[in-house]
Amino acid sequence: MPDATTQKIILDCDPGHDDAVAILLAHGNPTIDLLAVTTVVGNQTLPKVTRNALAVARIAGITGVPFAAGADRPLLRQIEVAPDIHGESGLDGPVLPEPSFDLDARHAVDLIIDTVMAHEPGTVTLVPTAGLTNIALAARKEPRIVERVKQVVLMGGGLHVGNWSPVAEFNIVIDPEAADIVFSAGWDVVMVGLDLTHQALATPEVAARIAAVGTGPAAFVGELLDFFGQTYKDAQGFDAPPVHDPCAVAYVIDPTIVRAVKVPITIETHGTHTLGMTVADFRAPAPEDCRTSAAVELDHERFWDLVVDALERIGETADTGWTPRAAAAVIEDADGTVTAVGQER
Ligand code: BDR
Ligand code: CA
Repeated sequence: MPDATTQKIILDCDPGHDDAVAILLAHGNPTIDLLAVTTVVGNQTLPKVTRNALAVARIAGITGVPFAAGADRPLLRQIEVAPDIHGESGLDGPVLPEPSFDLDARHAVDLIIDTVMAHEPGTVTLVPTAGLTNIALAARKEPRIVERVKQVVLMGGGLHVGNWSPVAEFNIVIDPEAADIVFSAGWDVVMVGLDLTHQALATPEVAARIAAVGTGPAAFVGELLDFFGQTYKDAQGFDAPPVHDPCAVAYVIDPTIVRAVKVPITIETHGTHTLGMTVADFRAPAPEDCRTSAAVELDHERFWDLVVDALERIGETADTGWTPRAAAAVIEDADGTVTAVGQER
């Protein structure tokens, strides 16, 4: 039951392994009131990430929360997806169930606008964990949301580090013009970027804690992390995968877990080698009217405590439709022949 400490959020995502963990954290944490989940092209095409979001909703036992699909392409650029990290489905690894409810009929941009406008000013936080196309379109379509939202806490960017180029992070560089709109709109933006999320490593100890929860949704997260760990090792040389997106949710839940500093940030939209860079100006103390900040330090232990706690609270869900990969990855014919089945979509 929402109370005065409850944080109302709209999660705009592109599931995505870490987006899936963000959805589970938002759903399982008792101080978060998840008002809506919207999807946008990013880790994979819009139909794929939307289907993934609905599958995660079923596994998590989410009901009564509207889910809507949004932009199927960036504002100006060609679509860029991330199969090297998230696979062809966008959520490779686990065998996903069919969705158990339908999408909201509205476009994600309209759902975002309607939801923000329907709540008291200063009470709704936007949590984008994907390219910023939907959020930019919403700000342009209904500019009143800019002063109405409490803050925008986004996963993206980095203080002069990158993962999609030497200086650009995926969520920003796939739609830099949208990012520019969002960072310069005039609302409070907290950039939960790579400096922070590269501290959110799912180490073997973390994986063991999640496994120990002993439920279906926790086992599902274990399968996600197995796949994500392997791709992060292969593609970027990480020993343990950085689980980016739930860090933004964690900041909303408890800002003492994520230390952020105020700093003016602008988005590079023209650079030949620096497109999508989040340019932070540390030359002087941030001016009084600075509306942007960057997350710099994560309390790793307390962050994972939150994720584990959310999974414990979610517990076993009634109708996950999900089967552990070990059980689902084979079919046994009448004659006893066992055949491995892929994850065709
Ligand atoms: C971000 O890019 C996506 O691949 C992840 O889901 C995360 O939101 C990390 O750069
Ligand atoms: Ca994401």
